[in-house]
Amino acid sequence: MHLDRASGHRRGGVGAGILDSRLTDAGLAPGPDGSLAMSGVPLASIAEDVGTPAFVYDAGTIRRRYAGLDAAFGELPHRICYAVKANANLAILRLLARLGAGADIVSGGEMLRALSAGFAPESIVFSGVGKSDDELLAAIMAGVGHINVESLAELRRVATLTDLHDQSVTLGIRINPDVTAETHPYISTGKGGLKFGVPRDQFAQALTVIDEVPRLRLGAIAMHLGSQLLQSGPYAAGTERLLALLEQARAAGHAPDVLDLGGGLGIRYNDEVPLEPIDWIAPLVDMLATSGCTIQVAPGRYLVGSAGVMLTRVVYCKHSGGRDIAIVDSGMNDLVRPALYKAWHEIIPVRPSDATPIRLDVVGPVCETGDFLALDREMAPVREGDLLAVLGAGAYGFAMSSNYNSRARAVEVLVEEGRWAVVRPRERLSDLFRDEVADPFAGEDS
Ligand code: LLP
Repeated sequence: MHLDRASGHRRGGVGAGILDSRLTDAGLAPGPDGSLAMSGVPLASIAEDVGTPAFVYDAGTIRRRYAGLDAAFGELPHRICYAVKANANLAILRLLARLGAGADIVSGGEMLRALSAGFAPESIVFSGVGKSDDELLAAIMAGVGHINVESLAELRRVATLTDLHDQSVTLGIRINPDVTAETHPYISTGKGGLKFGVPRDQFAQALTVIDEVPRLRLGAIAMHLGSQLLQSGPYAAGTERLLALLEQARAAGHAPDVLDLGGGLGIRYNDEVPLEPIDWIAPLVDMLATSGCTIQVAPGRYLVGSAGVMLTRVVYCKHSGGRDIAIVDSGMNDLVRPALYKAWHEIIPVRPSDATPIRLDVVGPVCETGDFLALDREMAPVREGDLLAVLGAGAYGFAMSSNYNSRARAVEVLVEEGRWAVVRPRERLSDLFRDEVADPFAGEDS
């Protein structure tokens, strides 16, 4: 049995005793036959029924994490607005709405989903750098809680729309706090010069625009530093800047009553030491308590990331150029994170294996060299037909999946204390080109 030095994670298989926090976090444990089960449901039986690839989510994990985050605020008035982009399945949204969450959305599509899932319009925050007129108008008409503007240009656009349609709007200003957060550069958003947020030196100008439009009210000052953050320091630095701007807004006669710290709380994929909610919030409490504001956060990954696995089966094994390669039935179209960010996702056999670990490339069927789940990964050897669980697939998994290579998107399943249900069926291949027009100019030529 091999012990991974960094994580203390035993690599032999679940029967061999893998039970680190990533498994317990996901509601995973060996079932009666030793194979991996999620909240009492054997993953193998789900795969038998619905096929692979399949995304399987544990409702209990999401509830636990929501409750943990909620508790971390103690007496501080707060609201947790789930970042819908992480996993937008209606069943996940409904679950979080029932727990009392609000929703952080970034598109008209996400707004429709959030409203359909039962989020009250006033519990919805509309973020995003490039909202179209149609999206803004739909949000204004729906009466969303805050529209978080990210530029002076967007602010002026909202002002025009409110005038045109005689509607009042509560705004948030998402500022660019110019704080660097250590994470993959593609998901670091708080640094000056990036496309996100209103630069602090334009904040006063933004206040003036709002002053000139009676239908606009400044309700919130917001930031979002980035994603998969593991340290509290950047939040403290960002919060200080939010508070300074709160003072500035108050001095100019505005009365925002919400401070929005954004999302970004990281999870453990490999050997990261994630920030617990209490360690995230506690260092900020004194600062935040003096603000007199409701504290809003917009976590996505933290709530759903470790709650999901992607089940995939080994299609072929081959040996090439001295490397062992397992080709599985899920590709970068199903889970793009490894290809896009070189992200690590733990992969474990659903049925235990005590075989000596080898080094393996786990790759997908898509015709790109970047189509891999893991390269040179030390793990138990696999055989054709083996079922594998890819951990940490609850956030930005299905949500970022595509039909590349004309592959149908995977089925999604929700597990709830011994029960399970399909919450989105696998796409049908015929649906992929249902609306395409093969011969658009038929009959026009003589
Ligand atoms: N609020 C705003 C304005 C955001 O842009 C995001 C994420 C969140 C909240 C939620 O962040 P979270 O708590 O999930 O870290 N596709 C990448 C992650 C992109 C995050 C984009 N914005 C990944 O797979 O790692």
